[in-house]
Amino acid sequence: MITKAIIPMAELGTKMLPETKSIPMEMLPIVDKPLIQYIVNEAVLAGIKEIVLVAHYSKNAVENHFDKSFELESELKKRVKRQQLEEIQSICPPDISIMYVRQGKTRGLAHAISKAKPLVRGEPFAIILPDVLINQFKCDMRTDNLKEMIDRFNETGRNQIMVQPVPLSNISAYGVIDTGKDFRDKYFDGSIFNEKAYQESQEKSIPIENLVEKPEADAAPGNLAIVGRYVVSDKIWDYLENTPPGAGNEIQFTDTLRLMNRDYPMDAVLIKGDSFDCGSQLGYMKAFIEYALRSRRFGTDMAEFIRKSGRI
Ligand code: G1P
Repeated sequence: MITKAIIPMAELGTKMLPETKSIPMEMLPIVDKPLIQYIVNEAVLAGIKEIVLVAHYSKNAVENHFDKSFELESELKKRVKRQQLEEIQSICPPDISIMYVRQGKTRGLAHAISKAKPLVRGEPFAIILPDVLINQFKCDMRTDNLKEMIDRFNETGRNQIMVQPVPLSNISAYGVIDTGKDFRDKYFDGSIFNEKAYQESQEKSIPIENLVEKPEADAAPGNLAIVGRYVVSDKIWDYLENTPPGAGNEIQFTDTLRLMNRDYPMDAVLIKGDSFDCGSQLGYMKAFIEYALRSRRFGTDMAEFIRKSGRI
């Protein structure tokens, strides 16, 4: 059983300045909830019980969001605001533990993950990057994506890495998998993944021959990008310790996976639906609009507003 997840959130969100100068990127709202609440909900729906947030002194607002607020709760009780009270109380379900470690100096994703070792050591675990928001309207969060990766890890014992096709013009922002020639011959047209052919094949996983962090488009082994969800065995710690600095002089988790893949082959899982890169301004705005348009409370008004804007 996989019950633990690490959410590395010590990054300073520099692509989102000036919004994120004094507000953690994870606290930016998607309609009516901060981004991190969707991320934690996703983990909970996939069966995770213990969540380790790798934090930074500038992220206190996240810690406060998941803490109990006696003052607010007693105020809402006094004013008989039942619905709001329930909503506030369900932010962190009672059977879920949220723990924090500090990364200190940010030296890359692999470095952030290694900070959580004392809290998850000895068991396989999930890693969830909080800037990647899986579109909850295009999949079933209780069975697809993270849950599916956990189930598949339980069946095979192999690390599971989520991938999504992205335009080659954006590929240098991502870790990218090389599927090897046999798979490429079947399911790629040149450098572009042929999703339709793959879906029709009924295959369930994608082989990984190699992984590379942030390649230039002309050097990328394809357009299947790693999108912030991983399920890994506890053997990962040995490889984390031995990962040298890579792209951008940071200790890259993609490099850790490349080292491990040589000894313990792993699989990629194609995302069901799609995801938003909420670590970029455009991606964040797209997520907000998608969630606003599909919101039960605001969707109709929002669609009407956009229709009337004269821009479409
Ligand atoms: C990180 C990972 C990268 C991955 C990306 C999106 O990069 O290092 O492999 O593709 O997240 O999940 P970052 O966005 O932190 O630069």
